[in-house]
Amino acid sequence: MSLLRAFIAIDIPPEIKKAISSQTASLRKESGHAVRWVAVENIHLTLKFLGEVSSDNLELLAQSLHSDCSRTVPFTVSVEKLGCFPNPRRPRVLWIGLAIPPELNRLRRQVEASAARLGYAPDDKPFSPHLTIGRVREQAAPAELQGLRGLLERATVANLGTFAVNEVHLYKSDLKPEGPIYTRLTTARLTDSG
Ligand code: 2AM
Repeated sequence: MSLLRAFIAIDIPPEIKKAISSQTASLRKESGHAVRWVAVENIHLTLKFLGEVSSDNLELLAQSLHSDCSRTVPFTVSVEKLGCFPNPRRPRVLWIGLAIPPELNRLRRQVEASAARLGYAPDDKPFSPHLTIGRVREQAAPAELQGLRGLLERATVANLGTFAVNEVHLYKSDLKPEGPIYTRLTTARLTDSG
């Protein structure tokens, strides 16, 4: 038995990644070293972070993901505007908010319940659908943070488009000094029949 870090996520299509990339280009450039930006190809919508998973459990996790997705119709997500956790005065995580349909909320609850049945801890925070695009460095100097707050106030990142979701993936994450490497372990298709 080996352990790996895993999570369940929805991919973002290239045209949305391109819109994010171009609309955030000046923010990325002007924020200096205050932010560790997520590589655009790694941006995704996390449905469930599982943490350390035993390789023996992968088959069961994949089966329950396929079963949850087989009971969910495809849906559309709208990619809205820039936000930050915990708040704009004290930015820690920079993200782009999403408007989601009830189907995604239902799917997320089912995925959460299936993971709990397999022994994975439920998330302690309510689901807040977002795409993380950057994380503020803990070592950022006060002046850099002040500059970042100004940039965030002036930022006009919004209306990045909509996309259809037809599948959900179980990913493995390998943490490397140069950034995480995400590898798909399984892909579950949403079905039209509901
Ligand atoms: P985030 O976009 O909300 O930061 C893979 O690590 C994904 O799992 C990340 O994109 C992250 O989503 C999410 N995640 C949720 N909880 C996590 C945790 N405790 N540690 C690492 N990643 C977590």
